[in-house]
Amino acid sequence: MLLNASGCLDALIAPDVARQLDGFVTKTITPLPREGNAPPRIAETAYGMLNAIGLANPGRERFLADTLPQLRELALPLWISVGGFCAADYAETCARLHDVEAIELNFSCPNVDEAADSAAEIVAACRAATPLPLYAKLSAAHPDVAEVARAVATAGADGLSLINTLRGLALDPRTLKPTLARGTGGLSGPSLKPVALAAVHACHAATDLPIVGMGGITTAQDVVEFLVCGAQHVALGTVLFADPDAPKRIRDALGVVQPDDRRLSARLLEFRANAVA
Ligand SMILES: Cc1cc2nc3c(=O)[nH]c(=O)nc-3n(C[C@H](O)[C@H](O)[C@H](O)COP(=O)(O)O)c2cc1C
Repeated sequence: MLLNASGCLDALIAPDVARQLDGFVTKTITPLPREGNAPPRIAETAYGMLNAIGLANPGRERFLADTLPQLRELALPLWISVGGFCAADYAETCARLHDVEAIELNFSCPNVDEAADSAAEIVAACRAATPLPLYAKLSAAHPDVAEVARAVATAGADGLSLINTLRGLALDPRTLKPTLARGTGGLSGPSLKPVALAAVHACHAATDLPIVGMGGITTAQDVVEFLVCGAQHVALGTVLFADPDAPKRIRDALGVVQPDDRRLSARLLEFRANAVA
């Protein structure tokens, strides 16, 4: 399944891009509206994109009343990305969601610690609030992402989304001041791919959960590498800003290397069986 990465596509502004996907993942929704950080909130670096959007979103009530009904008109499976400041924030939004494909819990939120026990507490609260599939979206900032994966699996997660951005800082070469108004931001794009592959590989070895792999995917070859490392699905993020037709381009190229191609299947099984540390 080919998805977009949360925050990297607005399906209401670009419905034709969304229709190239097998499902649409929303920008993270928080209980209250958020304007996000002051500009500049995006910076390009030689190594990828830095963003400090600050989870700008209309908030839960407006999302449920206005945005969600409009998204339903696209007739695409909808994944709702949910954020908050504490477990109760996440659980309350989950309880209000019905008739959607899945919920993605974004742990990279202000005040939210991505440690195994706090991530598990949030998943457990959401599990009690909804029967919908729950995907825990982790960053690779934790020293042992597999430990977090095991904890959220035990707490009742149905899948993992790997990975979120990693914190980075870019300086203006002339002023030597941070390029982003907030200082640091989340690094995304191709430089993230080796980190993401390692996280997917480690979490696949640690749990049986299906994994949506993301982080720097720009080509069909990248997709195959994520599948080989243990992802079942993949999501496109930063690439969509530069190349909105990437889903079609990648899908066409994958037509040459079908994920169920016998050689690829054999390679997947061999690699997964010999999971390296
Ligand atoms: C501009 C921007 C906004 C993002 N907003 C969100 C968000 O709201 N929620 C979330 O879980 N991830 C968000 N992300 C992270 C992406 O979903 C994805 O995990 C990350 O960018 C890695 O994939 P990529 O390298 O293909 O972009 C955002 C990324 C970017 C670049």
